Amino acid sequence: MYSLVSPLLMRMPPEASHDLALGALHWAGRLQLDTLIPAAVTDPVDVLGVRFGNRVGLAAGLDKNADCIDVLGALGFGFVEVGTVTPRAQPGNPKPRMFRLPARRALINRMGFNNGGVAHLRLRVAQRRWSGVLGINIGKNKTTPAEKAVDDYVQCLEAVHALADYVTVNLSSPNTPGLRDLQLGEALDVLLAGLAASRARLADADGRRVPMLVKIAPDLHDEDVDAMSTRLVEAGIDGIIATNTTVERGAVAGLTHGDEAGGLSGDPVHARSIEVVRRVRAAVGHGAAVIGVGGIDSAERALGMVEAGADLVQLYTGFIYEGPRLVHACAAALRDQRRQCLGLERSG
Ligand code: FNR
Repeated sequence: MYSLVSPLLMRMPPEASHDLALGALHWAGRLQLDTLIPAAVTDPVDVLGVRFGNRVGLAAGLDKNADCIDVLGALGFGFVEVGTVTPRAQPGNPKPRMFRLPARRALINRMGFNNGGVAHLRLRVAQRRWSGVLGINIGKNKTTPAEKAVDDYVQCLEAVHALADYVTVNLSSPNTPGLRDLQLGEALDVLLAGLAASRARLADADGRRVPMLVKIAPDLHDEDVDAMSTRLVEAGIDGIIATNTTVERGAVAGLTHGDEAGGLSGDPVHARSIEVVRRVRAAVGHGAAVIGVGGIDSAERALGMVEAGADLVQLYTGFIYEGPRLVHACAAALRDQRRQCLGLERSG
């Protein structure tokens, strides 16, 4: 089905086709057409104290408002991450703000956290029927000054704590000015302290401690990846998602749209994402979960991400280019690899 509609979608401007596809998914969900889609690959795995249906998730940014959880879940994902959501609704950057670079199977976006605010997302999450693992990715409003950033994250955490299977603290979007500065130094310490105190209060109130992850950029220096990973574990962060989009443009120089401002995703970010996952795993050992994301567009790349140290993987740009069959292919390959390892362990 996707191979039939994809040429049409690819001919439309990227954001319009994205909105059309999401709108169609939303209606498919309301009409319960998701029940017609083949079942997801079953490969249960326990990570972060949560049981995931399989190891392939939808990365944040596609369903920012949690409008399409049911139907996205039904496409075979073991987990779906919604957001990035901010405390208050905001329009994001002016259009155009999403660009295709098909020659490199890449996208550049500078959406700027366009979303309906955390109250809207809460309503949507409360209405969901899909029972798979739900991550909620939180951020700050553009107009919130850097020194008040922690208030935005805490406000979002308070709003979603009881509803999320895990919460991702997004410190790595290149499209909110100053956001990535929160990854380092004193700004990081202040943020982590604020979030830890808030989570402790919420855990008492809800009788449950939600796993908290931090999503990092591929553009950090190696030493900063190492230091930050260690710091995050010390601060009680349960997992690290590596990576967000990159501001590097070497791989797309000279291509149409190659010099657009924003974050580059897809094939050109893959090698660095794998490298960051490898470094994060080396730094945290077994002290935190690692979710690998960046340029996964085949089962082989999903396997490579796990080989580099990821417990779970996420898709975004590859999913846009390849469609739902990529989800099944990756999930099946990871399941088969795990079975093979278990078989070898048993026979060994
Ligand atoms: C993203 N990504 C993203 N990440 C995030 O944490 N919050 C967000 O709101 C968004 N928004 C967003 C919009 C668009 C159009 C794209 C292409 C990407 C980043 C995404 O989740 C992922 O980390 C990167 O895109 C790298 O993975 P892929 O796309 O190469 O598989």
